[in-house]
Amino acid sequence: MDFALSEELSMVRDMSRDFAENHLMPLATQHDREAKIDASVFPAMAELGLWGLTVPESYGGAGMSNLAMCLVLEEINRACASTGVTLSVHASLVCAPINKWGTEAQKQAWLPKLASGEVLGAYSLSEAVSGSDAAALVATGTRDGNDWVLNGTKLWVTTGEQAGLFVVYVRTDPTVSKAKGITAFLLPRDTPGFQVGKKEKKTGIRGSSTNELVLNNVRLGPESVLGEVGRGFNIAMDTLDGGRIGIASQAVGIGRACLEAATKYAKEREQFGQAIANFQAVQWKLADMSTHLDAARFLVHNAAWLRDTGQEVGRMASQAKLMASKTANFCADECLQIHGGAGYTDDFHVERLFRDARITEIYEGATDVQRIVIARHLLRS
Ligand code: CAA
Repeated sequence: MDFALSEELSMVRDMSRDFAENHLMPLATQHDREAKIDASVFPAMAELGLWGLTVPESYGGAGMSNLAMCLVLEEINRACASTGVTLSVHASLVCAPINKWGTEAQKQAWLPKLASGEVLGAYSLSEAVSGSDAAALVATGTRDGNDWVLNGTKLWVTTGEQAGLFVVYVRTDPTVSKAKGITAFLLPRDTPGFQVGKKEKKTGIRGSSTNELVLNNVRLGPESVLGEVGRGFNIAMDTLDGGRIGIASQAVGIGRACLEAATKYAKEREQFGQAIANFQAVQWKLADMSTHLDAARFLVHNAAWLRDTGQEVGRMASQAKLMASKTANFCADECLQIHGGAGYTDDFHVERLFRDARITEIYEGATDVQRIVIARHLLRS
């Protein structure tokens, strides 16, 4: 077993680290305070090919692996988690399912635009009544001749403000059991009857947009169905297996930023006549943060490798997300504790890291949902 990164993967990691340190880090506080990502960021990511990193070369992407995307996401999220989630959702929740289930026409229509960053993608599963119980969604898709007419209100849609394409899940058959009657649709932003609604004011990842979507007699042709009619829930779940690896990478990136900030501060800050790094209580915190982070990263990379090699990944993706999101919050808490009162002010970016880490235990399946998925795999005969 060889744990070394290939030359190509090392280059991708170094390129994204360079971009993250030089372009994103100086902007991350601004993104948080102004609750929007600076206009320079997305075009710069397009120039580096990040939006299409995992899109096949035949559709204008770089055709790289999920593991490559994990390396990129760790670097980007270490600098700015708002930018990180935007990329993760675009790649894993939009490009990936179109590539996997899309018709040739859908791939031709959307993947080149998504890969170039001309169009950003969003994923819309949740509603007011369906969060963890995703199959309980009530927005509808009704047949009208060959067309479908969509109605309802969707919630918690990352990148709602900027996205040009939404993968929307609605109930198309109310007569069958709840997970079986759902269909996925590709919904372009400019479709009549479709409106991006209220923007949420969030605790963390404030630079990324999170919106309500309103579907008011939105008419779509049959060519807009992604995958089979009635198989949308399976698509949503399989897609989230990949998405959870992305969010786990985000968590590792945030956790690493916490460890780095805590180590730096511990060496600089003096109390009782010496640097607080000399105290064993502080050293143990740093040691535990580092150990948890490396364990989480191994789980994430293993899950990505399973996905890349076409193996079953549900349990490992959930284990990676569970471990990495817990670790991010552990690291953020210890980092803030090492900073003391200073860390509780906005003079230091660690208070942002503390707020940004929290969402990794909530979105793309809360911690408790990851435990459900893991336990079901263990218990199934
Ligand atoms: N891949 C493919 N199919 C799957 C699957 C997977 N990983 N997991 C389940 N399925 C299939 C099942 O096989 C079953 O299919 P059949 O009916 O054909 O047999 C069907 O889906 C129903 O499965 P379950 O009975 O297990 O479904 P459930 O209702 O018990 O729900 C759950 C399971 C794991 C709790 C699920 O509801 C879940 O993951 N909830 C969390 C939702 C979530 O993560 N939301 C994230 C919102 S998006 C977001 O946050 C993105 C963002 O913007 C950042």
